[in-house]
Amino acid sequence: MNAVSSTQSAIQSGSRWTIADAMKIHTDDPTTTMPVIDYAFPVIDSDVWQWDTWLLRDIHGKTVTFKGWYVMFALVADRSATGDTVDGWHSRNNYSYIGYYYSRTGNGADWQFGGRVIKEGANSRSWEWSGCAVMRENSANTVDLFYTSVNDSPSESVPSYTTGQVMADATGVWFEGFDVCTDMFQADGVNYANIVEDAYWDFRDPHIFRNPDDNEIYALFEGNVPGMRGDFTIGSDEMGLVPPATTVPAGAQYGAAAIGIARLKSDSTKGDFSQWEMLPALVTALGVNDQTERPHVVFQDGLTYLFTISHHSTFTGNSTGPDGVYGFVSRNGIFGPYAPLNGSGLVLGNPSSAPYETYSHFVDPAGYVQSFIDTLPEPGSADPQDPTTYRIGGTLAPTVKIVLDGERTFLTEVHAYGQVYAQGVWPTSSAWDKRS
Ligand code: FRU
Repeated sequence: MNAVSSTQSAIQSGSRWTIADAMKIHTDDPTTTMPVIDYAFPVIDSDVWQWDTWLLRDIHGKTVTFKGWYVMFALVADRSATGDTVDGWHSRNNYSYIGYYYSRTGNGADWQFGGRVIKEGANSRSWEWSGCAVMRENSANTVDLFYTSVNDSPSESVPSYTTGQVMADATGVWFEGFDVCTDMFQADGVNYANIVEDAYWDFRDPHIFRNPDDNEIYALFEGNVPGMRGDFTIGSDEMGLVPPATTVPAGAQYGAAAIGIARLKSDSTKGDFSQWEMLPALVTALGVNDQTERPHVVFQDGLTYLFTISHHSTFTGNSTGPDGVYGFVSRNGIFGPYAPLNGSGLVLGNPSSAPYETYSHFVDPAGYVQSFIDTLPEPGSADPQDPTTYRIGGTLAPTVKIVLDGERTFLTEVHAYGQVYAQGVWPTSSAWDKRS
């Protein structure tokens, strides 16, 4: 076994996504591959680009309707600001804000774009990136919105939150509040890499939930293994059960993704989400991949399913896999140990004929998976990445359903574009009705 640096051993107490696991990834396996999307897909709202999307839910993860409305949140950018072009789409991160949509049916054809959620100017940094929206427990209509507050210069990425009220009547949904934004925690350089250690550090996408085992509130987030970028030793723990004579591939050490977790210390009933205890990562991908984004969790049949999205372009060394959603399962609750789903970690990837057609898959507790359309190759195109022929998405893909069967997952259904399902109805009190 190779020597492991002291920083590395101090923080890698969680489970590993190993090089051997990633060797088992197979693109185009029909049980783990998104359907090829029709080039003539419909667009929900052609005034905005829409990408990372999350539904209004409760703290346990259940999607809820509010007064008969489905409510979804998404990163959006105004096409008038970016330009309604290929370049405009690719520059969207620099114009990103959280928008919302509502629908009576949950079908993509019915979504109405409602506009901005966080009051303009309340987020003190340049952009709003991904997070989640949670109905406050025991409240009629309070929503805690967790997101990533991202700054351009100096470069910062800080999980943050803001609170407001969801309102609805027979004609639609709107919000009040969301005018004060508060930081949750920052990359500490001890449990998670900070910008000093890694100029490409990732620290974002808070996903808040109440853990059924200890009833505590936790945040999952995207992070990186602490330590200087590229200065990691890839040893037998990171290699996993590789065939004989397998050597450490060149460049593998640039993959240092980590699925982060922190425990809430402040009083959530008072709406205080400002104090957290940083804990070591649940899963690290040292030697395999540099990004595990938007981590989220599903509890089913006594098992804990941890999902995260990742890119083809962020695999390192000889590891490779499609853009899509990857996952891990634990029989012992949120802290693991975790095994990669399907042996490899791959849960749903893009087909090789359309390698960038979808991204940012989110698995709900019933197995419905939402994602957005990124770039869709023209049918028969010789080069699926040719920007002169691919069609830009900026809208939701068909929802698919996966079945979680122990350590395996299966794609079983394809639903409509932007279709969503709710597992609950938020109980609105009579007190709230009087206020409205
Ligand atoms: C995933 C992601 C998130 C980030 C957002 C920025 O698609 O990269 O990690 O918050 O998109 O657009």
